[in-house]
Amino acid sequence: MLPDPLPRPAPIGNDEYRARRAALMQRLPPGSAVLLLGASLTTRSRDSDYPFRQNSDFHYLTGFPEPDALLLLLPGRSEGESVLFCQDRDPALEAWTGIRLGAEGAVREHDLDQAFENAQRDERLEALLDGRTGLYLLLDDAEAMALADDVRGRLAARARRGAEPPRRYVDLAPLLHEQRLIKSEGELALLRHAAAISALAHRRAMGAARPGLAEYHLQAELEHEFRWHGGSGPAYASIVGGGGNACVLHYIENNAPLHDGELVLIDAGAEFDLYAGDITRTFPVGGRFGDAQRELYEVVLAAQERAVAAVAPGTTLPALHEGVVRDLTAGLVRLGLLDGEVEARIEDESYKRFYLHSTSHWLGLDVHDVGDYRLEGEPRPLAAGMVLTVEPGLYIPADADIPERFRGIGIRIEDDVAVTAEGHEVLTAAVPKRVAEIEALMAKH
Ligand code: GLY
Ligand code: MN
Ligand code: MN
Repeated sequence: MLPDPLPRPAPIGNDEYRARRAALMQRLPPGSAVLLLGASLTTRSRDSDYPFRQNSDFHYLTGFPEPDALLLLLPGRSEGESVLFCQDRDPALEAWTGIRLGAEGAVREHDLDQAFENAQRDERLEALLDGRTGLYLLLDDAEAMALADDVRGRLAARARRGAEPPRRYVDLAPLLHEQRLIKSEGELALLRHAAAISALAHRRAMGAARPGLAEYHLQAELEHEFRWHGGSGPAYASIVGGGGNACVLHYIENNAPLHDGELVLIDAGAEFDLYAGDITRTFPVGGRFGDAQRELYEVVLAAQERAVAAVAPGTTLPALHEGVVRDLTAGLVRLGLLDGEVEARIEDESYKRFYLHSTSHWLGLDVHDVGDYRLEGEPRPLAAGMVLTVEPGLYIPADADIPERFRGIGIRIEDDVAVTAEGHEVLTAAVPKRVAEIEALMAKH
């Protein structure tokens, strides 16, 4: 029997891409230009490439899905402000790799003002950037910088004949990434969908888990679900860590057997229309938490639920993190994993032996999404339209000074949360995280 299909959200429309470009241009000083490169194909081995994935910034401003494209924004230009360069049409190549839109197709399908094919790029760039004063580009993109240097050099060589090369480079990242930080309704719908697919995948993996399987069997269950519901696949390398592997934060080998009596930590999320889900759940391979596992789990869960409940406009990520650190440290002291006073253990940072990462990051087109975490040196207040994760964890090393019953237990619980005007919306609530709910789901399979 086929699972019920999830209703598919509408893709972002050309009107929204156009509005994003307009909003960016409005914030540029007169005479500026923007130069932004799309992604290229990356070789996987010999003559095969990784599947193409557009650069997130480029996607955000264009929705254009082909490799080797370039966007220029030229505010005030009468022949058109948004100019795209794209791959040349080439029927012989297209027989192998599929249709390329070409310049005409790009204008028609993506509502750009003007497009040219890459064969004309160098010559046209020179004319288009002549007389623009500030050139906005991503200063950490070496290829974009080299291209800009080249154009600027050629214009400079013609300066005596009246050419005016852009006088300065300005980093595009702060402006563009500030814009990306606040999600539109259309983006929220896509994030909700990526989260819904990710949630189904976690439920499926939970239901399938049993001793005798390997970590990769659960990875297969997850990734089946990602693709089945039309996601492109994982938004980042899926983490499936049984037993002590859960304590390795970026464990992606996923090759070890799963043992009865151990927990397994899964950190995995689907990508849908380039938007990321990012969920972590930790559950017992055999379907029932052991006593020590439950005691630790309840500490992480209480911290996580309290932090999620606190998400609202006006609070800050450091405030959420401090609350989590306090709750986790109190739990560690209660369970005898830290000695002394909670306040002192926070002060001397000894909790960091068990909790070394931060509690939250932005989520969007990138799993660790863009946007400043501080404004003028201060933690920025959360605002409606921001989307973040809440993901506390405890990772207990298997060291001789640790009570044996806690050794090698790793737990993280992660949800995706959108900030709303009234408070927040948990996008990933469909995956159980309470002990009784997890055990009930696993008992049904
Ligand atoms: N999976 C990456 C993260 O949770 O931040
Ligand atoms: Mn994660
Ligand atoms: Mn995360």
